[in-house]
Amino acid sequence: MSPKAPQPLERVRTARRDLASNRPGYERAPGDFNRVSVPTRDGDQLCDWLVAEDPEVVIEVGLAYGASALAIAEALLVGDRPDPAHSIIDPYQDRFNDAGWAVLDGAGLADMCTLDRKRSQFALADMASRGVTADVAFVDGSHTFHNVFVDLFFVSEIVRPGGLVILDDCDWPAVAIAASYYETNMRWRAEPGSTGTRLRAFRLPTPRYEPRFDEFKPFGADPHR
Ligand SMILES: C[S@@+](CC[C@H](N)C(=O)[O-])C[C@H]1O[C@@H](n2cnc3c(N)ncnc32)[C@H](O)[C@@H]1O
Repeated sequence: MSPKAPQPLERVRTARRDLASNRPGYERAPGDFNRVSVPTRDGDQLCDWLVAEDPEVVIEVGLAYGASALAIAEALLVGDRPDPAHSIIDPYQDRFNDAGWAVLDGAGLADMCTLDRKRSQFALADMASRGVTADVAFVDGSHTFHNVFVDLFFVSEIVRPGGLVILDDCDWPAVAIAASYYETNMRWRAEPGSTGTRLRAFRLPTPRYEPRFDEFKPFGADPHR
């Protein structure tokens, strides 16, 4: 009798463990995987937030070696949504020798995941103009202030009211200050669970909120630091 094929969820958990302990087959430079990837503990937090949310559609910005993508995929497979979808955006996957996509493919995720190789500032604008909606967005792409700010504008259009936006690297001022605009002016509310990680999750308001220009509140300081 042939051995039973591992279940999709077990395959993804194994791929996550393997990636964390063995690192990817290709690295742009020594130590690059650890430098750019969400650490395992933060990946676990990301996965926990998503499991609690039980989303059907997740958008991810920034694939790199696939560490956060596997954490998101694990959560989608834990959930019992009939048609889970994971849309990933990364214009520079070729610079990683497509290592992130290879990890997802190897974990059996090529059907559930899609990869858009445009800059997220344009890919998200395109999705928003096509009326795409999502339950959760995870943003870990360009860390330049204006790019993060634009990404957050478009995910606030795409993620449904009451949905979740999660950001990595909120210990960098460019990311934290971009997020603080949305928290200060757009009624995004920080979710519990960020303690001890550099990730931060924000709950979007219900119904969708559009501030008046004369209600603008100056922002810039990260209220959590
Ligand atoms: C810090 S790494 C992401 C790490 C990944 N989330 C993980 O934990 O495995 C940042 C990624 O953003 C991508 N990136 C850079 N500029 C981008 C842009 N304008 N739009 C989308 N992705 C971008 C890079 O190619 C890189 O893969």
